[in-house]
Amino acid sequence: MRDEGRITARTIRRAKGQRRIVCLTAYDFATARLVDEAGVDIILVGDSLAMTVLGYESTLPVGMEEMLHHTAAVVRGTRRALVVADMPFLSYQVSDDQALENAGRFIKEAGAAAVKIEGGAIRADLIRRLVDNGIPVVGHIGMTPQSIHEFGGYRVRGREPREVARLREDAVALDRAGVFCVVLECVPRGVAAELTAAVSVPTIGIGAGPDCDGQVLVIHDLLGLYGDFKPKFVKRYAELGRQVVSAVQRFRDEVLRGDFPDDEHSYH
Ligand code: KIV
Repeated sequence: MRDEGRITARTIRRAKGQRRIVCLTAYDFATARLVDEAGVDIILVGDSLAMTVLGYESTLPVGMEEMLHHTAAVVRGTRRALVVADMPFLSYQVSDDQALENAGRFIKEAGAAAVKIEGGAIRADLIRRLVDNGIPVVGHIGMTPQSIHEFGGYRVRGREPREVARLREDAVALDRAGVFCVVLECVPRGVAAELTAAVSVPTIGIGAGPDCDGQVLVIHDLLGLYGDFKPKFVKRYAELGRQVVSAVQRFRDEVLRGDFPDDEHSYH
């Protein structure tokens, strides 16, 4: 039965100009439960899991089966938030037929409510087809990590007038194609504000300043769980990585000393 309290693509679309949208990544059941309980609107099962969870150097190696596996776990942990599955590299570029089939698997097999696709005007026909077939789509422009080899690294997009014009064309093309929101990644704040004003759907920024309609972060960055590298746009709200190391060290020391388990933690 449909959960009446669920956030839907329609809720997000209608939030533009009314209230800000909060989005965070999650990749597993336990984290999804916590993030959902905290009240975020959208949980993105990002292909960033290739790096944060699976230890790859980029998002490129992760495939459909891994993304389906993690998306299904997140859906099981979520009651209210809208779950968006990130379509991995080469799951939508080869042909529109294959893209429709793969997007459909996220909805049908994993229980996601929408998919995210990187790219601008070049993806417009595909997005229109997915939307026409009942699959809500989140767009993603700016610094798109699946194109890292084309860009020659992770860098801010939209610093030159030519790039700004291209971003504007892309944002408008995605809006016309029917996305219900669009992620702007690593874009100067003035450009993000201009793009936000140019489209009818909410923009969700990551490294795109405060004038977007919503914000997204990678949960491992927010909680201090992923490495020492911290991009300028990341704000750490906790240092859980350090807390985990210290808790495990205390456990190790107590086991080595014979202090754990004590009587209180033993059956009688
Ligand atoms: O994969 C991901 O986590 C993303 C967000 C950074 C938007 O695409």
